[in-house]
Amino acid sequence: NNYAVIMAGGVGSRFWPVSTAAHPKQFRDLLGKGETLIQTTFKRLSIVVPAQNIYILTNEAYEDLVREQLPQINEEQVLLEPVMRNTAPAVLLAALKIRKKNKDAVMIMAPSDHWIEDESAFALDVETAFEAARDEPKIITLGVTPTFPNTGYGYIKYDPKEKGEVKSVKTFTEKPGYEQARHFISGGDHLWNAGIFIWNVDFIVRAFRKNLPEMFRIFTRDTDILNTSEEKKFVKDTYPAAENISIDYGILEREKGTVYVIPASFDWNDLGTWGSVHSESLKDEHENVALNVRLLAENSSGNIITSDKNKVVIIDGLNDHIVVDENEILLIVPKSKEQEIKDIRKKVQQKF
Ligand code: GDD
Ligand code: MG
Repeated sequence: NNYAVIMAGGVGSRFWPVSTAAHPKQFRDLLGKGETLIQTTFKRLSIVVPAQNIYILTNEAYEDLVREQLPQINEEQVLLEPVMRNTAPAVLLAALKIRKKNKDAVMIMAPSDHWIEDESAFALDVETAFEAARDEPKIITLGVTPTFPNTGYGYIKYDPKEKGEVKSVKTFTEKPGYEQARHFISGGDHLWNAGIFIWNVDFIVRAFRKNLPEMFRIFTRDTDILNTSEEKKFVKDTYPAAENISIDYGILEREKGTVYVIPASFDWNDLGTWGSVHSESLKDEHENVALNVRLLAENSSGNIITSDKNKVVIIDGLNDHIVVDENEILLIVPKSKEQEIKDIRKKVQQKF
């Protein structure tokens, strides 16, 4: 009765020019491991869910990439979104389809592009969550101990002293402002939301009906059509009318008394920026990371250097920089400006 959905529709614009709208980061081997992030994610989830019960949710534009990189999955395991509407509508559609197949199903929703090294610790936490959510109206999140006031994450308020592995969540705040994030961290009673959720499908569908009633209405107009050959057309017609909203804003922030957290027993990194790839990669004695380049470094430290051409790169006197050589683009920016790569991408697109 265990199912998984992998969210693979994002664009990853802070990893430009390696991650592009045509070929986003989840379909790249960002860590130089010989497999792409979505391939690693699929393997990790196969430990807790039968492979034929794992669905990939993504934009139509990425269908070929999914089929190429996960040739083992069946046609109906890929759900294609005709337009980008963030995660909430995709999750609702997947939950409705799964519920129709198996009304006792429990499901895990996981991002396609995160780093989790300890797969067995991950599997144990997920097993615990599946058991807790199986027959209960519970949304289970996995929480990570925060280390700095990151404003790009969701924050989970809980009571660290509450007994048991599965603790109740007081409030869930998606992407707080900087001051609020700082306040959350200093209290010691908040965790970062890892973006991984576990629930039973019947309950999550009811949570949509309550919190996003209009979205629920349009997707349940014709549930007979789900899992049939006419489903594609139904999705194409329905999807554009769906609200563009994430599961975090649409459901998690709105649910009261049904959200729970398991403090994660594994190390986690959402690989949101080049700096985070630097943290999780093999470094030389001066903290330089060379991905697909043969690096000769003198008087240089803390850099991350990557190329699509396996070049010989020589640096001298360069510190804490990101150097990305990809196709016709060479990007060199200080690591402190990693968040601005999104905007640089826009500027370049306007200028050239
Ligand atoms: N199928 C589909 N469709 N997937 C999508 C879409 C979409 O329209 N938009 C984003 N995704 C995928 C991304 O590829 C990623 O794997 C996942 O959904 C989460 O989307 P992000 O855009 O990366 O979310 P976020 O980073 O702003 O915030 C989420 O993750 C944080 C941890 O990394 C939230 O869950 C936060 O609360 C959380 O802390
Ligand atoms: Mg993210």
